[in-house]
Amino acid sequence: MLNNKNIVMGVAGGIAAYKAVEIVSRLKKLGASIHVIMTAAATNFVTPLTFREISGNPVVTDMWDEPKKWNVEHIALATKADLFLVAPATANMIGKIANGIADDMLSTTIMATKAPVLFAPAMNSNMFLNPIVQKNIHELSTYGYEFIPPEHGMLACGVEGPGRLPEPAAIVERVVARLSPDQDYVGRKIVITAGGTIEPLDPVRYIGNRSSGKMGYALAKNAARRGANVVLISGPTSLPCPGNVELIKIETAAEMRQAVISESGDADIIIKAAAVADYRPQDVAVHKIKKAGETLTITLEKNPDILLELGQIKKQNQILIGFAAETQDLVNNAQEKMKKKNLDMIVANNVTLPGAGFNTDTNIVKILYKDGRIEDLPKMSKEEISKNILDKIREFC
Ligand code: CTP
Repeated sequence: MLNNKNIVMGVAGGIAAYKAVEIVSRLKKLGASIHVIMTAAATNFVTPLTFREISGNPVVTDMWDEPKKWNVEHIALATKADLFLVAPATANMIGKIANGIADDMLSTTIMATKAPVLFAPAMNSNMFLNPIVQKNIHELSTYGYEFIPPEHGMLACGVEGPGRLPEPAAIVERVVARLSPDQDYVGRKIVITAGGTIEPLDPVRYIGNRSSGKMGYALAKNAARRGANVVLISGPTSLPCPGNVELIKIETAAEMRQAVISESGDADIIIKAAAVADYRPQDVAVHKIKKAGETLTITLEKNPDILLELGQIKKQNQILIGFAAETQDLVNNAQEKMKKKNLDMIVANNVTLPGAGFNTDTNIVKILYKDGRIEDLPKMSKEEISKNILDKIREFC
């Protein structure tokens, strides 16, 4: 994915420098050529040798071993970079760049590059929230420097709050997204639902369905890569959350409805890939239902149809996309749903076909548009289908 890409990675002196090793390793595995520049402080946390071995390239430090090379090297790396990642970015390094100070190899190279610069700050919460640091971040953002916000959590210094470097996978995903040639979703908010809902019967049992969530997660990942601001509302799955995606976990249809309604007001696009339970048990037993008698009757009551409701409150210019999983009369059923729920597009599939439906990595879908057009996609991976769907949505916006 990152073949022929040159990434210059700045490692500043913070405890999170150890995570930078994994970031370099992951970027290298994706095919990028990585050049690491370490500040002198960073070499106290991780040795240059580690980065040299992982990146396969010489590591530049501020040790002043070969001062004659200084000029040549910082300009060479600054020019070579397709992207500059600073992880961890300390308050000190952010402050230097915000104030135009170039007094070491890393700050000098950042100042000299024309490549996009991504800062991943990591520091003590109080430091991060310090108005001086916040002002520096704000100022750098106005100049076009980009920031990967730190996570909230327990920090190495024992304090809880914002300041933790995000996991390496999330940072790498952000780099991949930034270097992706298609950035056609920048500035758009997409709400995507995925997976199946589950409806409890008692404290140990529930009614569920076979949805794996793969389709919705592939859509979320690829939309984020194309620059969208993605909110993924997901039923229980075993899938990892894609990078740069805000995940809201839900279990029941009622919880999904609440999350979808609160997130959809300012959404440009809503894609409902989830398999929502149409009914739920009328009464949820407080204790485990005991075995008694030869049969058991459970009365179900109707769940809200979330997509139908979204169609009724749909805003002008909002794009609404549904999915239809059918076992018969695919086109008619899908057309009916598209009309009834006021959709712009519906992705329909016959779940009984081999290689289609739930829990597979592939699917065979038809895309139906509100103007009557129908497109048949051949059997392909859900990953490919998600890219196709995102391409088609672009026709609307
Ligand atoms: N959907 C929804 N809320 C529900 C049921 C479905 O938002 N309670 C959405 C699904 O996420 C999907 C679309 O509606 O995008 C169609 O779902 P599907 O289960 O195929 O159809 P239903 O409308 O439930 O109709 P039926 O089950 O009778 O086929």
